[in-house]
Amino acid sequence: MQGHSHYVPKLGIAKWVDARLPLPRLVYDSFVAYPVPKNLNYFWTFGGILSIMLVVQIITGVVLAMHYTPHVDMAFNSIEHIMRDVNYGWLIRYLHANGASMFFIAVYIHMLRGLYYGSYKAPREVLWILGVIIYLLMMATGFLGYVLPWGQMSLWGAVVITNLFSAIPLVGPTVVEFLWGGYSVDNPTLNRFFSLHFLLPFMIAGVVVLHVWALHVTGQNNPTGVEVKDVKKDTIPFTPYATIKDAFGLSVFFLMYMYFVFFQPNYLGHAVNYVPGDPMVTPAHIVPEWYYLPFYAILRAITFDINLLIFTIPAQLGGVIAMFAAILVLAFLPWLDTSRVKSSNYRPLHRQFFWAFVAVCVLLGWLGSKPPEGIFPLLSLTLTGLYFAYFLIVLPLLGLFETPNTLPASIADSVLGKGSAPVTAGAVSSPETKG
Ligand code: HEM
Repeated sequence: MQGHSHYVPKLGIAKWVDARLPLPRLVYDSFVAYPVPKNLNYFWTFGGILSIMLVVQIITGVVLAMHYTPHVDMAFNSIEHIMRDVNYGWLIRYLHANGASMFFIAVYIHMLRGLYYGSYKAPREVLWILGVIIYLLMMATGFLGYVLPWGQMSLWGAVVITNLFSAIPLVGPTVVEFLWGGYSVDNPTLNRFFSLHFLLPFMIAGVVVLHVWALHVTGQNNPTGVEVKDVKKDTIPFTPYATIKDAFGLSVFFLMYMYFVFFQPNYLGHAVNYVPGDPMVTPAHIVPEWYYLPFYAILRAITFDINLLIFTIPAQLGGVIAMFAAILVLAFLPWLDTSRVKSSNYRPLHRQFFWAFVAVCVLLGWLGSKPPEGIFPLLSLTLTGLYFAYFLIVLPLLGLFETPNTLPASIADSVLGKGSAPVTAGAVSSPETKG
């Protein structure tokens, strides 16, 4: 997408810098002149929202770290100290804690947007896989951060999640002791979790740079899923058009974020985490943060040993495998979806399966919050089956049998509501055919 640079430095100093380190040229080419499809809707503002949220999390996190003490005897009290004594400490903490939830809301919308509009398909496979890596890093960062206040849910969440690794055959117990840095979740565990929680956001930032780089090589997908053919007709410059739209999207998103920070700061958390962590008292019901709930339901859905004739997978290991597979399957999406049409706007059948899949994820989330008793494990197992069926059965087969609607000949035509072309023309593109 990014052709020849049109940056012309005007000031003498700008010319001097450009000849030595063309950073202003990079910014100009990437965020000013960069051509974006003219039909992008507000779902395309979430990448920008995520970038800003990452910055917010890093800044508030670094300030919190200045006042936080990573010691089992002091961590809980240091958080109370931040809330009560540090100037605006309560604000920084609530921005950070609710910021994590907002980050996940934004990333789920961003990923579902990709799923609906087929943004993972050629030539954007690497862009997508980098996204999956970011998502995994985000999950790890969120988990490590939640342990730091050392409340009851922090401590017991850490116990449950680290113990999952004990299911690994042969080396499981050794791995768990290695993670703990001892024989239970204790001070060394808290220390290493703090250290890693500080480090991982910067690794995320690094992968985001690669993610945006890959995006700028392939160019953006768009709601029609038809690639840019004529840069003049199909695109508009990033600034001012996308900049203003992103700023508006971000403002609305921040209204919701600030509502939580100022009016419901503890709504998304757990009350029991305001009780200091006690290794001698297990909470009645251990539940992770809302954004892990669907995967928690999948983890607990496997309540029986799986007999594979030659060997048996114990129930706990089965749950762990299912949970990791539920995330890793996303990385194979570009090859599992066989349809040549990207956008679900032109795939009437896939549209229905897509919304059914969203419903399955929401229901799994609800089940993740329930105790594993009565009808809930069976429901979790059924929905886990449906979750995997979407990726492993529906997407591969649907592309072969579904008759998509006729696609517009170009982005410009779709905007003007005129003309159409057979599905094969422009539905799939390679890097060579893009505008
Ligand atoms: C810190 C997290 C992330 C940041 C900051 C980020 C940033 C961005 C930005 C700035 C864009 C371009 C604007 C847009 O299309 O919205 C983008 C596009 C994209 N992202 Fe992300 N992203 C993140 C996470 C993810 C994840 C977890 C996935 C998928 C698993 C993903 C997949 C994609 C795809 C496929 C596109 C291209 C969309 C298109 O052109 O239609 N991203 N991302």
